[in-house]
Amino acid sequence: MRTIIITGGAGFIGSHVVRRFVTRYPDYKIVNLDALTYAGNLENLRDIESSPAYFFEKADLLNTADIDRIFSTYQPDGVIHLAAESHVDRSILSPLDFVYTNVIGTVNLLNAAKAHWKDNFAGKRFYHISTDEVYGSLGETGFFTETTAYAPNSPYSASKASSDHFVRAYGETYHLPVVITNCSNNYGPNHFPEKLIPLFINNIIHNKPLPVYGDGLYTRDWLFVKDHAAAIDLVFHRGKDYETYNIGGFNEWKNIDLVKLLCKLMDEKLGRSSGSSEKLITYIKDRPGHDRRYAIDATKINKELGWKPSVTFEEGLSQTINWYLENTEWLTHVTSGEYQQYYKKQYDKI
Ligand code: NAD
Ligand code: TYD
Repeated sequence: MRTIIITGGAGFIGSHVVRRFVTRYPDYKIVNLDALTYAGNLENLRDIESSPAYFFEKADLLNTADIDRIFSTYQPDGVIHLAAESHVDRSILSPLDFVYTNVIGTVNLLNAAKAHWKDNFAGKRFYHISTDEVYGSLGETGFFTETTAYAPNSPYSASKASSDHFVRAYGETYHLPVVITNCSNNYGPNHFPEKLIPLFINNIIHNKPLPVYGDGLYTRDWLFVKDHAAAIDLVFHRGKDYETYNIGGFNEWKNIDLVKLLCKLMDEKLGRSSGSSEKLITYIKDRPGHDRRYAIDATKINKELGWKPSVTFEEGLSQTINWYLENTEWLTHVTSGEYQQYYKKQYDKI
């Protein structure tokens, strides 16, 4: 029996983590702590929300009184921290929001864990979820390992790097039992359509231009979100305190190749003539500070904990597209309101 606070559980990755823990560990109490920003959506959790051991707390990580109350009420022995501002383009438009939630919010959560666990850390765990973007950009070859120096280039990655440093520092200074994972780009169901894959799926459905930044030759390593949730489960239960584990998909794609594959699969699934979605590809002005290439060396988690991705990219992408085609109501809900203003600001020229 454990009680775990999962922050950001109404978001993309968090909802998959909450679902996995609620269904696999029915004797655990799972508390989803989420502010429900534009990216948080309780529709992501409809199927499990009536489980007796699932609890939702709407709270902002900047509100220390609320965080304190939630720790007092549930007395958690574990924290899995996913809540964050997560989109690079928004961080370029509004960096301070990222400092508040990702840096100050993380320190507030560390302080709450430290205070409530009263320096009696046996059986406790503070697990911080981070990104490979903290390592900066790679050239044509090489991989990020757990010892690669941090060199964040965007306000988003700088705020995540800062939060990683605070988590590590609380481990060193106060011996708070922390663990960190740095993962590559996720994709899958429930992904907010501001990121490349869900944005382009939504635009293809609506026959809208597909805005490719710069020359389209930027490379990302893509991992199916359910495989990330499985890795988080493993690290939470079997990872070692004070360690970092890199998580990746062994699956590098240049953006333009990925977009062409997506177009082909969408044409097939929508019964459109071959090549019709590719015609929507529109090259636009590059993202400032755009990292050229990310690639994760996930040997450590593979060797030490036996984790590896379970689906191929083609399978994962196909499942993802099917989910969006079957959940048009979800897409309509999340793309109304604030989304329209963001879209206008970000893609004003097309
Ligand atoms: P997301 O944007 O989909 O969800 C973030 C969630 O955090 C939302 O539910 C939102 O309501 C909540 N939130 C935001 N600010 C909050 C605040 N101040 N207080 C409480 N809740 C708040 O993000 P995601 O893509 O699911 O990413 C989850 C985590 O994983 C983040 O820490 C991110 O940095 C990390 N990560 C993401 C990826 C990726 O590809 N998406 C890859 C590696 C790591
Ligand atoms: P994104 O999904 O925003 O993830 P990240 O920047 O965190 O890796 O972007 C993935 C890649 O796709 C990145 O190289 C930027 C590019 N991209 C576009 O070309 N057009 C777009 O509209 C978006 C959102 C991203």
